Amino acid sequence: MSTDRQRNPLNDFMIKVENLSHSVDLGTDKLSILQQVNLDIRKGESAAIVGRSGSGKTTLLGLLAGLDIPSSGTVSMNGHLISALSEDERASLRSQRVGFVFQSFQLLPALTAIENVMLPIELAGLSDAKSKAEALLQRVGLGDRMQHTPRQLSGGEQQRVAIARAFAVEPQVLFADEPTGNLDTRTGEAITELLMTLNREQGTTLVMVTHDQQLAERCQRHFVIEAGVLHEKTDNTTEVLSA
Ligand SMILES: Nc1ncnc2c1ncn2[C@@H]1O[C@H](COP(=O)(O)OP(=O)(O)OP(=O)(O)O)[C@@H](O)[C@H]1O
Ligand SMILES: [Mg+2]
Repeated sequence: MSTDRQRNPLNDFMIKVENLSHSVDLGTDKLSILQQVNLDIRKGESAAIVGRSGSGKTTLLGLLAGLDIPSSGTVSMNGHLISALSEDERASLRSQRVGFVFQSFQLLPALTAIENVMLPIELAGLSDAKSKAEALLQRVGLGDRMQHTPRQLSGGEQQRVAIARAFAVEPQVLFADEPTGNLDTRTGEAITELLMTLNREQGTTLVMVTHDQQLAERCQRHFVIEAGVLHEKTDNTTEVLSA
């Protein structure tokens, strides 16, 4: 007997995007950033998004993570229609299930590295924040920088704190904007390994903007954004996912 037949296929999707378009109001003008994006990412998949500067990658990642609501179309995360949730409900969904590594890191400047990593653990009401944060910082190679504030850390070190912070709540889905962008080759490889271990061992869905070829090659799905239009790159063809 096939259990597949009884399974609701919608439950397999971590991210489902339908006809998403996004524009911003510039007073007299409207700037269209994303156009008619359709996208499905299954639970446990890893996806890499590439595209030129200004093509809409960060905007798309923010919409997928529920940080913002699209101008039109829908985003569902793990079966929840994000636009149907209140701001509080979206924040709660994010704090429980979603890790985000921002392009600009967005660490809290007054907190030390370990405090930055402990914060989401405490906010999620989980125990052992200190020991979990220590273990994570050690894993990203910052065991000797735990008491430093962001100002006292290099760009690559701040990025690794941001990665440790994103892992802290054991997210079901991790969005990362150029997670290896500021790192030297060896540190970048170590972070790639860590991301892939998370994906393999905890089934974390990974959605990453990256120009790092090594990291992109390790992902199962490959997408390109060109001027707000998303395409999936398959082995032989480039499938247009936008209408
Ligand atoms: N709030 C906003 N108001 C006006 N324009 C915006 C806003 N947010 C983004 N944009 C514009 O939308 C376009 C896409 O921005 P986005 O940050 O998504 O690009 P990106 O692909 O991540 O680029 P990069 O590789 O440089 O990080 C850019 O031209 C940007 O200037
Ligand atoms: Mg960006």
